[in-house]
Amino acid sequence: MTSEDPRADDNHLREIINSLEDELMVIDHKYRIIEVNEAVLLKHGKAKEEIIGQFCYAVSHGFTEPCHQPGDKCPVDEVLKTHKPAKVTHTHIYNIDGQNKERYVDIIASPIHNSRGQITAVTEVIRDVTEVKELEVKIGEAQQNLLALNAISTAVIQSLDLDTILGSALDKTLEIFNSNLGGILLLDEETQKLHYRVHRGLSNRYASEMSLNLGEGIAGKVAQTGEAMLSEDISSDPRAARPKLINQEGLRAFASVPLRSKGKLLGVINIASWEARKFSLYDVRLLESIAAQMATAIENARLHQEVRRKEQLRGELLQDMLAIQEEERKRIARELHDETSQVLASLTANLEAAVNTLHVSASKAEPLLRKAQSLSINILDEIHRVIYELRPALLDDLGLVAAIRWLSDNKLGSSDTNLQYKVVGKEKRLPPQLETTIFRVIQEALNNITRYAHAKNVTIVLSFSAEAIKAHITDDGAGFDVAEAISSKERPRGLGLLGMKERVELMNGRLVIRSNPDNGGTEINVNIPLSEDS
Ligand SMILES: Nc1ncnc2c1ncn2[C@@H]1O[C@H](COP(=O)(O)OP(=O)(O)OP(=O)(O)O)[C@@H](O)[C@H]1O
Ligand SMILES: [Mg+2]
Repeated sequence: MTSEDPRADDNHLREIINSLEDELMVIDHKYRIIEVNEAVLLKHGKAKEEIIGQFCYAVSHGFTEPCHQPGDKCPVDEVLKTHKPAKVTHTHIYNIDGQNKERYVDIIASPIHNSRGQITAVTEVIRDVTEVKELEVKIGEAQQNLLALNAISTAVIQSLDLDTILGSALDKTLEIFNSNLGGILLLDEETQKLHYRVHRGLSNRYASEMSLNLGEGIAGKVAQTGEAMLSEDISSDPRAARPKLINQEGLRAFASVPLRSKGKLLGVINIASWEARKFSLYDVRLLESIAAQMATAIENARLHQEVRRKEQLRGELLQDMLAIQEEERKRIARELHDETSQVLASLTANLEAAVNTLHVSASKAEPLLRKAQSLSINILDEIHRVIYELRPALLDDLGLVAAIRWLSDNKLGSSDTNLQYKVVGKEKRLPPQLETTIFRVIQEALNNITRYAHAKNVTIVLSFSAEAIKAHITDDGAGFDVAEAISSKERPRGLGLLGMKERVELMNGRLVIRSNPDNGGTEINVNIPLSEDS
C-alpha cells in the first residue's frame, strides 16, 4: 500500500470503517441508503444488495413512508434543515436470531457537502445504547418505587385510626397504579375469614358478599400461601371464587398480595381493573413493598386501639370500684347501725339494769349479766362477719386454700349446689397481691354462679406448682355467650368478667372463660406464672 495508489487509500479507509462496531450509513435527500459499513449488514442480518438503494425508514423502522412521528425527530431532516450535525435517540428494528427486535440507538447525523457547499448526503453513525437505556428505565422504576413508598408511609403515619390509615393507603396505592378499583381485606382471627375493610370502586354488595375462607379464591390463596398472585382476567380465571359475583362486578385484571407483619398474616391487598391487562413483576414487587409498609401501620394502629380500649376499660373499672367501695361503706354503715348498734344499745340497757339490780339482789342480776354476755358474743360475731367480708383475715392468717374454703362454704353452703373443692400440689404462701387476685377472681366467679348459673354442681381446683398458680372453676349451670357478655355496652353489666381478666393480666397471667349458652356449663381457667422470688 503506497500513498501514490488512491485505491489503496480507499481500501484502507473502508477497512477502518468496516472495523467499527457502530453502524455507519450514508443517506441521500430522498432517504435512500447509498452506503453502509459491515456493522449495518451484520446487525440487520442482510446482504449489502438488500440494503443499498432501500429507504432508511424501511430498513431501520420497517415503515413504508418517511417517519415524521411527533416527538421523534428524523436526523436526516434535521441535518438538511439546519445544515448542522444532529443527535437523536431512536428505536430501530433489527432482525436478531430470526426475530424482529427493538433496540435503542443513538444516531449522530452529519452533512456531506460538495465543493459548492451544498449538502449531497447525510452520514449517520448509529450506536446501540439499549443496555444503558434499560438501566435508566430500571433506575427510573426504582426511583418511582421510592417515591411511591414515601407517599404511602406519609399517608399511613398521618393517623393511628385503622380505617383512616387503610383508606388513605389504598387511595395512594391506586393512584400509583393508575387504577380506581381495589380493596383491603383483613383476617378475622376468630373466624379465620377475610373481609373487606376498605374498598374503592367496588360495590358494597360485592365487598360484603366477597368474604373468603383461607385458601378460597385468589385472595384466600394469597392469604394462605403468603405468595402474591396475578390474574390477567379474573372473570375467566378458574382459581377465582364466586365467578358470578365477579362477572356482575365486571372485574378483569387482578393483583393480590398478602399483608404480613412479623410473620403474622393480617390480610390481603387487591387491585383490579375493568380491562384485562397484565400486571408486571415490577408491579407486584412494588405492591409487596407497599403491603409491608401498610402491615406495620396496621399493627401499630391495632396496638394503639388495644391500649385505648384498655385505658377506657381501666377507667370504667375504676369508676366501678369507686361505686362498689361507696356501696360497701353504705352497707357496712347500715349493718353497724341496724344490727351492731341495736345490740350494743340492748347490751348497755342490760348492763345498766344489772348495775341497778346488783346491790339489791345478786341472783336477780345474774340473768341480766348472762344476757349481756350473750349480746356481746353476738356483737363479736357480727363484727367478725363484717371484717371477713371486707377482707377475709383467713387470707392473711391461713392462706388461700382456707380462705377459698371459707368463701365457697359461705356462698354455696346453704344452697342445694354440690361443691367439689380440690387442691393440687403443695400449698405455699404467695405474695399478698397474688393471693388477693386469685381470691377475688374465685369470689366473682362464685357470685356469678349464685346469681345466674342455677348450677347443680360446682368444682373449684386450685393447683400449686413451682412455675404457676392455677385455678379452674366450673359449673353445670345455664351457660352464656361470653363474647356478647364481655362486649356488652350496657355497663355496668359485664364488668365482673372484665375485672377478673384485668386483675389476672396485671399479674402477667391469663384468664380464659368458656361457656355454652346452648348446652349450658361454664368454665374459667386462670393461670398466673410465678416469678422465682414469688
Ligand atoms: N357462671 C355463669 N353462668 C351463667 N351466666 C353467667 C355466668 N357468669 C356470668 N354470666 C353472664 O355473664 C354476664 C356478665 O357477667 P359479669 O360478672 O361480667 O357481670 P354482672 O355479673 O352482670 O355484673 P357485675 O359482676 O359487674 O356486678 C352476666 O350478666 C351473666 O348473664
Ligand atoms: Mg358478676
